[in-house]
Amino acid sequence: MASVQLEPHTGSGRSQAVARKVLPAGCVIVSSPALATALLPQEKGKRCDTCYRILPLHRCTGCAAYWYCSTDCQTTQWQLHHKRICKRFAQYTSSVAFQALASHEKMDALLLSHLVAQFTDANDDRLTHVTCLLPGPAEISLPPLACSPRISDSLVKDLYSRFGNNNFVIHSHLSGVGHGVFPLASRLFNHSCLPNAAAKYRLSASNMPIMEVVALRDISPGEEICLPYLDPALLQTRQQIFRLTYGFECHCLSCLFVERVGRIPEPPPDERDRKDLARRLKQFMEATPHDGLTLSNDPASFPSDLLAIFHESFITYAAETFRNASHDGPYSTAFDWGESLGHLYRLIYPPNYPQIGMHLLELAKTYWNSIVAQHLDSGGEENEVKQHCRSHLKHAKENLQILGAEGDDDGPLIEIQTLETLLQDA
Ligand SMILES: *[C@@H]1O[C@H](CO)[C@@H](O)[C@H](O)[C@H]1NC(C)=O
Ligand SMILES: *[C@@H]1O[C@H](CO)[C@@H](O)[C@H](O)[C@H]1NC(C)=O
Ligand SMILES: [Zn+2]
Ligand SMILES: [Zn+2]
Ligand SMILES: [Zn+2]
Repeated sequence: MASVQLEPHTGSGRSQAVARKVLPAGCVIVSSPALATALLPQEKGKRCDTCYRILPLHRCTGCAAYWYCSTDCQTTQWQLHHKRICKRFAQYTSSVAFQALASHEKMDALLLSHLVAQFTDANDDRLTHVTCLLPGPAEISLPPLACSPRISDSLVKDLYSRFGNNNFVIHSHLSGVGHGVFPLASRLFNHSCLPNAAAKYRLSASNMPIMEVVALRDISPGEEICLPYLDPALLQTRQQIFRLTYGFECHCLSCLFVERVGRIPEPPPDERDRKDLARRLKQFMEATPHDGLTLSNDPASFPSDLLAIFHESFITYAAETFRNASHDGPYSTAFDWGESLGHLYRLIYPPNYPQIGMHLLELAKTYWNSIVAQHLDSGGEENEVKQHCRSHLKHAKENLQILGAEGDDDGPLIEIQTLETLLQDA
């Protein structure tokens, strides 16, 4: 906390986190413990309900719906909230009221139950840390709960009104595993689509996941520290989500760029034209590399016939075509789209954003797999493929080392090591 200072922000009840000293890329700015979490349904029975680690689990015999890796984890959660939820859980989840909820509302209902079950005292500081956050802009109605609250309905409602615009998705290697309430992080960090920091989650025995906010680049004293509240690649829809869910408008450089562009043109329907668009993006980027920041500083420098690459449907198409072809081939398609997608990410995301590194690692793996699968003659072609593999791997490593170890023990940094070893011997 000594590294950030809170400055009152004019016009809102909230503060801004401002760096007090140079925060070097990769440093942990703040650790924020969870006040409550809830696993996503597809992770239930796979991860411990307390610590989120993937380990052999035993099931709670009372409800048969919560799983733990150790007696410690089970006792911790029992004391925290499960003892108020266990007995009625089956009845609750099979109730008409719960069943009628959409899946995201079910997540909210479970998380709210885990939160309110912990408290009897309305003046508990930990509750005040939630209610002092900004409420969302929309009217809300309370979902059914898995426990009968021992705090007033209006306080429960107050807490719930902070969910939509404050809760975080807990992720491991960038894939979501649960939702969590992290009041300290919510209070400190505002949003930017070109953030200078990112959240990661550390998992450890007997603890709920801990959020760490990491500097993605060197941050100067006086600079505000921001996190992305949603995937900045949602270039067309994000502004609407900010208004509806968060109640603000974003005026970051990236949003300014989108605003100046106006309407992002539809990508061409024909597959060959799309491929051509991707090829021209690659040419443009190879001639003058840009990243998220340089692009938005100079919107006029961007060729208008390339603007369709920012259309969300084009980004999705590029990602899917790469993913499909990197599994099933043809490899040439995977390489073309993988390279273009790498350029696209560099344009959209700020430097060192972990999505870029994860993609470069996938691309390096694809190059490697093509060598293995095609038994290329160890001639010119194989050397070139190896060079691509090495160069993407190097950039993936530089990028992902900044965020550092997070989530499950296996993961991208281990995969990078493995591939490095294979390349050395190749
Ligand atoms: C947070 O960022 C949004 C979008 O840039 C802005 O409208 C809002 O005023 C900021 N809030 C604080 C507390 O800085
Ligand atoms: C990728 O593969 C899936 C499943 O085979 C298919 O439904 C989808 O259309 C493919 N996407 C693209 C862009 O080729
Ligand atoms: Zn555990
Ligand atoms: Zn139980
Ligand atoms: Zn923005």
